[in-house]
This record gives sequence, C-alpha cells and structure tokens, in this order.
Amino acid sequence: MENNRSSWGSNLGFLMAAIGSAVGLGNIWGFPYKMGKSGGFTFLIIYLLLAIFVGMIIMVTELAIGRKTGKSIISAYNEVSKKFKFLGWLGIFAPFVIMSFYSVLGGYSLQYMSLNMAELSFGLSGIFGSKITGGDTFSSMLVNPFGCFVFTLLFIIICMLIVRGGVEGGVEKFNKIGMPALFVMLVVVIIRGLTLPGSVEGLKFMFVPGYAVSAGFISEAPNIVTVLGTAGGQMFFSLSLAMGVMVTYGSYLDKKENLIQNSAVIVIADTIVALMAGFAVIPAAVANSMAAGIAPADMALGGPKLLFVTLQDVFSNMGAIGPLFGVIFYLLVLIAAISSAISLMEVVSSHFIDKAVAKGQKDPRKKIVLFVALAILVEATLVAVDGLGSNGIAPMNLLGMSSAPTFLQDWLDFMDCWSEGMAMPLGAMLLGVMVGWELNPRLALDEVEVSTKVGKGFETFYTICIKFVVPIVMAFVLAGQMQDYFGIGAISYIISIGILVVFWGITIATKKK
Ligand code: PFF
Repeated sequence: MENNRSSWGSNLGFLMAAIGSAVGLGNIWGFPYKMGKSGGFTFLIIYLLLAIFVGMIIMVTELAIGRKTGKSIISAYNEVSKKFKFLGWLGIFAPFVIMSFYSVLGGYSLQYMSLNMAELSFGLSGIFGSKITGGDTFSSMLVNPFGCFVFTLLFIIICMLIVRGGVEGGVEKFNKIGMPALFVMLVVVIIRGLTLPGSVEGLKFMFVPGYAVSAGFISEAPNIVTVLGTAGGQMFFSLSLAMGVMVTYGSYLDKKENLIQNSAVIVIADTIVALMAGFAVIPAAVANSMAAGIAPADMALGGPKLLFVTLQDVFSNMGAIGPLFGVIFYLLVLIAAISSAISLMEVVSSHFIDKAVAKGQKDPRKKIVLFVALAILVEATLVAVDGLGSNGIAPMNLLGMSSAPTFLQDWLDFMDCWSEGMAMPLGAMLLGVMVGWELNPRLALDEVEVSTKVGKGFETFYTICIKFVVPIVMAFVLAGQMQDYFGIGAISYIISIGILVVFWGITIATKKK
C-alpha cells in the first residue's frame, strides 16, 4: 500500500512546501510586532534559542514519525503508540479549526487585493470623490457579512483546487512558484518601506531593546515569563508544529533525505522571512502613522489591523503608485495565506484519503478534498459573518454578556483559543512526553539514521531536549495562552504544570517494561 501513496517530486519541492506552510500570516503580522513589543533584539535571541532547542527538536521528531510510518496523522500516532493515539486527533482538530479563521483572513487579503487592483485600473477612489482609508475600508468590510462570505468561499475554492491536484501536482507545484514569487515581492515592498521618511523609528521599535517602552509604544515591558510564552507560542504557530503538518509532509518524504538538515533549513528560512516581513511592514507602518500624527501607543502594528488598516493607509498615502504596491503587498499576503492553508487542508484530507484507500477505493482524493472544503466552509462562515465581533453574533453576545474574556469576544478568537492556544502547546508538550518517556528518543533518531549518521553530541542534545526542555517549555507556553485567552492569572501555571505532571506520572507508571 505504501507504494501507492503520494510523494514529493524532489527534496526541494518538499522544502518549498514545508517553508510555504511555515511562512504565513504569523510571520507577517505576528513576529515583527511581538518582537518590537517584547524587547526587540532580546526577544529575537529568546525566539532563536526556543527555535533551536524546541522547534527544531519537534520538527525532526514530527518528520521522523511521518516518514517512519508513511501514514497520515492519526494512523501515524496510532502506529507508534496506541496510548497516545489521541495526539493524532488533536493534530487533526487543530488544523481543521485554524482553517475556520485562516480562510476568512485569506478572504480579506483577496478583497484588499481586488480593491487595490480596481483602484489601480479605474481610480475608484476618484469616482467616490475621496481617498480610501484603511479604517473606513476595514470597518465597512466587516459589517458586510455577505461580501466576507463570498471572498472566504473564493479563498477556500482556491485552496481546494490546489489540494485536489495532489501532493506533487498541487501542493508542491504551487509552492515551487509561490515561494520564490513571495520572496521577490517581499524585497520590493521592503525597499519601498525602508525608503519612506521616518522609517528608522520602526526599525528602532523592532530591534532596540527597551525602545518600545521609552518611545511610548507600550507602557511597560512584559516580564520574562510573558516574553517566553509569547516567543514560544509564536515559534510554534509560525513553524506549523504540533498540527500534523510536518508528520503528514514527512510521510511523503523519501528515505534518503536528511531530516536534520531539512528541519534546519525550514526553521532558518521561516525566521528570515519573519524578519524580512518586519522590514517590509513595520518601518512603513510607523512612518506613515507618525506622519498622520498618531501617537505610538495608538498605532496598530500587529494583527488584522496592521494588515488591513495601517498598511492600507500607507498605500493610500503613496500617491498614484500606491495601489500598485497595494496589489503587490496583498498578493504576497494571499500567497503566504494560501501556502499555509493548503498544508492545513492536506493534513485533514490525507487522513480520510488513506482510510478510503485502505478500504479499496481508487483515487478518492478529489471527492474527499471537496467534503473537507465544505466542512471548512461551514465553520468559516461563522467567523466570516461575525466580522471580528462587529455583527452582534459573537459568543459573548449569544451568551448575553456585556464583557468577557478574550476567547468569547469574537468567533475568530474563540476558534484561535482552542486550536493555536490550547491544542498546539498541549500537543507539543505531550509529544515530548510520548517520545521521551513512553517510547524512546531512539525512535526518532533511528529514523533520522536511515539516511544520516547521528553523532553522539546530537543524540545527547536531542534526548535532553525531547525529555525535559520540550515538555517544560510547552507547559509555560500553555500557561501563557491560558492567561491571554481566559484571563485567569497565575492559576494557569498551576493548571498547565498540573497537566504535565499528571501525564508524566501516568506515562511512567503505566509504561510497559
Ligand atoms: N505557520 C503559519 C503562519 O505562520 O501563519 C500558520 C500555520 C500553518 C499554523 C499551518 C499551523 C499550521 F499547521
């Protein structure tokens, strides 16, 4: 059966697809802003340490489990450990739920690209008599549920058509063109952004430790535990870890490829693109906001507002050339969103495809991808229609609450809370417990050694990281997320460390001799 399974056309194709999954909205609106807010260069160092000691380790482990079993996420976990099969379910739940809002955000990018294109072709703002502003455009878009639904649908259709094309003919093909194109567009936008007067303030915000506080962007510096949580959460989301993506992509990988080297390339490329995205967006956003007289504390430099309000204003203020940069920029965002979304869709689809093939169905991919896309459309419609809580159907409205913790404020945050907030750190923490304590770190290392000799040094490093560093760091990340979403303060540490201790205890106590 394994021989009938899809596979990558080449290692480069695999790398482009994995980097495509990693490089997404998280790099563009998450990393640069979190870096600026959380200590600039200091944050970068912490991020890199986490990427090496935790991200790389999980990446190697996931690719190894995927390639060893040659199976999609649930069967793969079931094969290595029946006891931890539920991790496979977490790994399918999270990507499915992430798609609910990723598709809507992809839809927004599509709307903005179209808007700038229309502006470029017909000078629409001239027709309406006034220049389009990011704020007005965004708020009128959010209160137009039908428009948001249509563009979300279009985004899902694009992803579906790519994933239907298969691993090599769809996912790999798209990324092999999309990733280099994204890189080139990013360079164009960086050059424009850095040459705007005042952009140096943005660079200082991003890189100079403590500058965010001294220049008034934020009122007080976050403490080190918060920074660790922010950096850890960002790193995980950005590298598409604990989502089944790397297990699934690893399952299509040839036995001769070097898993450690591939993991390193993905981590390095993702970090470089995150930094480049920072150069592209933050200096321009800060310069333009300064020129408009906005105080640093009121500038929207992260999240949807950065992309769809602050940056649209940058393009609107660039004169005749603005819409052209707008088209380039939102196309870049769109490609980043598609390349990540197709990895999420592939994880969910591949599970059902493998099952259908095992039952003897011939080539079920197209049918299954259609069903998965329809299921995604249902949940995404809720997020699209909600318009970030603008239309009175947010969870807190439905519950009749006048104020609520973050996760109830809108459907996007609700979905994000359970997937990125809870399932991802929990999944990664328990992956460490499973490989480090239930199985044996050799499981992953043996798979790595099918193609590459592992030195004693890496073996020791890997073993310490997977047994101790990964679970403990992830417990802190989980606690940080609980604080953010539920606003429960220090209790979150007791809960997440409690979960870790319970799982550690049960695993060790019930481990077969
Ligand atoms: N890595 C993507 C980003 O940074 O936006 C998001 C993502 C894609 C997360 C795929 C998880 C995933 F499985």
